[in-house]
Amino acid sequence: MRSTLFAPLLEIALNSTMESMARTFATAFRSPRLVYRSIEDTDADRDMIATTLEDPVTHGFRHSGMFAPGSRTSSREIIGRITKSALLAVLICLPPPDSSNPSDGPGTELARAQAKGVPIGTMVLFPGKHAIARMAFISLALQEKYQNKGYGAEAINWLLDWGFRFGGLHRIEIGAAAYNDRAVQVYERKLGFKREGVRREAIWMDRKWHDIVEFAMLEWEWEELRGRRQLEGNSSESGN
Ligand SMILES: CC(C)(COP(=O)(O)OP(=O)(O)OC[C@H]1O[C@@H](n2cnc3c(N)ncnc32)[C@H](O)[C@@H]1OP(=O)(O)O)[C@@H](O)C(=O)NCCC(=O)NCCS
Repeated sequence: MRSTLFAPLLEIALNSTMESMARTFATAFRSPRLVYRSIEDTDADRDMIATTLEDPVTHGFRHSGMFAPGSRTSSREIIGRITKSALLAVLICLPPPDSSNPSDGPGTELARAQAKGVPIGTMVLFPGKHAIARMAFISLALQEKYQNKGYGAEAINWLLDWGFRFGGLHRIEIGAAAYNDRAVQVYERKLGFKREGVRREAIWMDRKWHDIVEFAMLEWEWEELRGRRQLEGNSSESGN
């Protein structure tokens, strides 16, 4: 199955010249409607994470542990954990608005954060246990008002590209609670992740056991989805 939504957008030069690599670097942290920047241990980024955690619906869908109110303290813990262990941790952002008119006055931390883009969600790639297996798994959440607008699929698609182009990965995993129909729809139908199995009764929520559905994409499946296999095969046959 080819992802018709995003496949044509990936431009990887077949021959690496200084110019083509400069283009690659210049566009690496963008997708058509979004930009991505590292999560930093700053008040602005802690606020952003706290905003996502404080919305109980978003928090409930992204979380499979004990359901308790999110807080600024948990956002501090999350930043500590991801800065220590994540392969990549980014804020998903809308491109910067007119930076000449920051909402909090020029030179403030908020103004500096806005100049890098307007954060709408977080996305983290955690490494698997054994480096030799080159695997990682994705965790993400968008703020409620930015959900259902295609941003989640676009961001995950960008992360797949990053993982296989720059992260040296062979396998990228993602999972969702069985009741999270929207996440399952995005991972399997929109993006082409393969359903690998079910962790039965892995979530205890509201007096019931719920399954976690597990998905993964392999490097060669990503190549096929992006039309890379054929392209690179043709190129080596023709000596380009
Ligand atoms: C899950 C999430 C990342 C998806 O991102 P998104 O930007 O909202 O999703 P998109 O807009 O790209 O796609 C949503 C798709 O789900 C479909 N959908 C929405 N609600 C649905 C429902 N209740 N049942 C089935 N499909 C649903 C939409 O129709 C759309 O598919 P389409 O484009 O083919 O019509 C985002 O909604 C989110 O952050 N949710 C809260 C936290 C969360 O669930 N995190 C994931 C934890 S595993």
